[in-house]
Amino acid sequence: MICTKDFKDKCDIMEFGFEEYEGSEARIFRASDKKGESCLIRVQDISGNESKFDKEAKILEKVNGLGIMPKMIKYWKCNGQGFIVVKDWCYGAKKCITFQEIWKNFDKLSLKEKEKILDKILELFKKLHKAGIVHGDVHFDNILCRDGQFALIDFGKAEYMTSENRRDLMLKDIYNLAVYFDNEKGIGRELWTKKVNEYFKDFLSY
Ligand SMILES: Nc1ncnc2c1ncn2[C@@H]1O[C@H](COP(=O)(O)OP(=O)(O)O)[C@@H](O)[C@H]1O
Ligand SMILES: [Mg+2]
Repeated sequence: MICTKDFKDKCDIMEFGFEEYEGSEARIFRASDKKGESCLIRVQDISGNESKFDKEAKILEKVNGLGIMPKMIKYWKCNGQGFIVVKDWCYGAKKCITFQEIWKNFDKLSLKEKEKILDKILELFKKLHKAGIVHGDVHFDNILCRDGQFALIDFGKAEYMTSENRRDLMLKDIYNLAVYFDNEKGIGRELWTKKVNEYFKDFLSY
């Protein structure tokens, strides 16, 4: 059962909208706040593993300030469920799609356009990695696009890096992008390798 009372108490949510998506881990609902602005509520079952949700929420608090994810308004736990409310990028007036949609027509883009997209996505990871956090679940449903801008979502597998695992974890995040970029439909092996090398060179010079 979803604690709808909590929405009103905790974050001025007035309208609890219809379910937009049901994934393996989470359900996504539309909502709107007192001003009628759209928000999105991610609800996940956390019974038996509340500490995992606590960890995700703490990481989100940190990532929230980096400007690379939809703005998080609030999170809380109730009746074995974890709630995360975001604003900004949600379904609503402005078109927001996942990278999956972009990927469908990726081969129609010019190399320059593809490169620009990759650069924007790498910029998000640079900010995240620089903050000492690794995403841990990089795939095209966890990257959003709106008006040519990109954002990362779903930090359920995110971790703080240590000096020992830092390199391996960062490589894993970046190499998960290789599925899309390191091939003919993407930007090709040569340019991809150059981009990855640049990424780590730039990154280490921070
Ligand atoms: N802020 C958002 N705006 C638009 N769509 C979103 C947003 N957050 C999630 N979604 C959609 O819901 C899906 C599932 O959300 P996600 O947080 O990745 O949950 P899960 O853990 O189930 O993968 C995403 O792949 C995306 O399609
Ligand atoms: Mg996801």
